This record gives sequence, C-alpha cells and structure tokens, in this order.
Amino acid sequence: MTKTKIATALLAASMTMAMAACTSPDNTPAEHSSADRTQGHSKSSSGLPAGHAEAGEKLASTKNAATGQSCVDCHGAAGNAPIAPIYPKLGGQYYDYLAHSLQMYRDGDRDNALMNSQAKSLSDQQIADLATYFGEQESHLRDLHGLK
Ligand code: HEC
Repeated sequence: MTKTKIATALLAASMTMAMAACTSPDNTPAEHSSADRTQGHSKSSSGLPAGHAEAGEKLASTKNAATGQSCVDCHGAAGNAPIAPIYPKLGGQYYDYLAHSLQMYRDGDRDNALMNSQAKSLSDQQIADLATYFGEQESHLRDLHGLK
C-alpha cells in the first residue's frame, strides 16, 4: 500500500467509527431514549417528519379523546384568541419552538398538567402537522421591545 492509500483507509475507518458512535445499530439517533424508540418518538424537532398544514388545521379543532378539548378550545381560532390571557398565543410562532414544546409536553420534559394530557397521545406526525399549521397563521406575538 502506498502512503496515500493507507491514509485514505485510516480516514475511512475512523469515519465509520465516528458514525457508529452517533447512531445505534438500527440507525436511531443517539439522543432518543429507549422509551421513545419503542414508541417511534423523536425528541428533537429536527427528527420529525414533514408537517402538513391542512392535517394540522383539522387536528387543531378535533376534541382529544381523553380530555374532551381541542387546541382551539383553549388557544382560540388560529391559536390567536386564547380563552385566558395567561394562555400562550400560538399563531405565527416558530415551527421548531411549537414542535419542540409539544414533544416536551408529551414526554413529560415540560411540566404543565393541561398540556401534558393534551399532548400525551400525539404522534410525531401529528406534532409536525400542528406546528406547521399554527406556525403558518398570522402572528399576534409581541416581545418587550418598546415597552416603557
Ligand atoms: C385546556 C386548555 C388547553 C388545551 C386544550 C390546549 N392547550 Fe396548549 N397550552 C395551554 C396552557 C395553559 C399552556 C401554557 C402551559 C405552560 O405554562 O407551560 C399551553 C401551552 C402550549 C404551547 C407552548 C406555547 C409557548 O409559547 O410556550 C403549545 C405549543 C401548545 N400549548 C399547543 C397546543 C396544541 C397544539 C393543542 C392541541 C393539541 C393544545 N395546546 C391544547 C392550554 C391548553
């Protein structure tokens, strides 16, 4: 073997080892817990399938079988008319923020009794659909700039 060939072989071997360290044998990213793997859940918004706004819109007004309430029952039409001022507006929020919040509520990593029960049975696809739909609505979000 020439020096270049040896170097190439070593590089290929170390890349294979580096890739093996990041994924389990079934190619599941390392950050997924074993519970998530069993249920096919992703913990990161980057691991979600592509979302569909129409499906998200339908789901947003579908009553959850366990709670008897839908997203818009509390967050209002298009996520922009919450029934109480302390309930967050969702319209126009970043997709990643919405999706990751829902993943955390579902998995118990973000603690809120109302949202935990609301998100418990959501699949990765449903989370992606809901985040796509609410993210595409007009934004009524405000930050603190300009407040005196
Ligand atoms: C019973 C009322 C209720 C229902 C139904 C409900 N939510 Fe919520 N939602 C809340 C409350 C209250 C919070 C704030 C919780 C907290 O402080 O973490 C919240 C927070 C959120 C957040 C985090 C927003 C932020 O700015 O941090 C998202 C995303 C969200 N809800 C999406 C949904 C979706 C999608 C549905 C339908 C599947 C839904 N919610 C159904 C009451 C509700």
